[in-house]
Amino acid sequence: MKVTVVGAGAVGATCADNIARKELAEELVLLDIKEGFAEGKALDITQTASLLGFDTNVIGVTNDYTKTANSDVCVITSGIPRKPGMTREELIGTNARIVDEVCKNLLQYSPNTIIVVISNPMDTMTYLALKSTGLPKNRVIGMGGILDSARFKTYLQKELNCSQNDLHATVIGGHGDTTMIPLTRLATINSTPVSNMLSAEKLKQVAADTMVGGATLTKYLGTSAWYAPGAAGAALVESIIRNERKVFPCCVYLEGEYGQNDICLGVPVVIGKNGWEKIIDYKLNEEEQAAFNKSAEAVSSMNKVLETLAFSL
Ligand code: LAC
Repeated sequence: MKVTVVGAGAVGATCADNIARKELAEELVLLDIKEGFAEGKALDITQTASLLGFDTNVIGVTNDYTKTANSDVCVITSGIPRKPGMTREELIGTNARIVDEVCKNLLQYSPNTIIVVISNPMDTMTYLALKSTGLPKNRVIGMGGILDSARFKTYLQKELNCSQNDLHATVIGGHGDTTMIPLTRLATINSTPVSNMLSAEKLKQVAADTMVGGATLTKYLGTSAWYAPGAAGAALVESIIRNERKVFPCCVYLEGEYGQNDICLGVPVVIGKNGWEKIIDYKLNEEEQAAFNKSAEAVSSMNKVLETLAFSL
């Protein structure tokens, strides 16, 4: 198997590091436009091989897409990250051009690849990737909900004083501070609803903390987070490469599912060797569906901004 990660910044390099450690690919290409940067990160990762016991061949390249040829999965992390106080949406002008160009370059050498989009604003960048490549919908997947769900579990664990691994908790909708929907009603610990153990007020606070989970980190770090985003990207790649058929909330193209059309938005999907294989219907209640519709409206208007940027979709 061959995997390419585009963008050797903090998220891309961490994602590549996780992919290498998990030995998901025989060959892992890390590509960046900054001269020598991906080469340096790849060499650094390679020098951990004997320490961590992996054999993945990690190759760094400066903008040379020929080296990415025949990748089974390509992860796009390129673009600028947000600074404290910025929303993910404010990045659209710069990142849309970058993601569009990256997609075209990747497809030229890996026409059969599955594309994973991490660049922000992720829901709109996923929509752009799908439209600009014309790939079958199952082969374009936005990574946001896996990360947001991991953050949801972290905040739940703090309240429940439990293992995060005993929790099932899902965030659907957009990957934005106001568009994501932590499904508190459906969250469980060892098959028991967490609502049996936490007050409605506590759960509301957990949901609120989850929604600004990324912003909290940009405030601490001065830039956006990387450990959890990188690990979440690698978890998605793992389910594809190993055909695990895990159910993850991912940003995928909706054609009537969850009541939405012509939009990429986070819903639970089965992830396997063909990309996203099936959307799972969680049977939202009225309140959750209303939140999902509101999220779709916000993402839709962001997608319209692409038109003003002169992308012919
Ligand atoms: C975050 C970025 C990666 O949520 O979207 O940290």
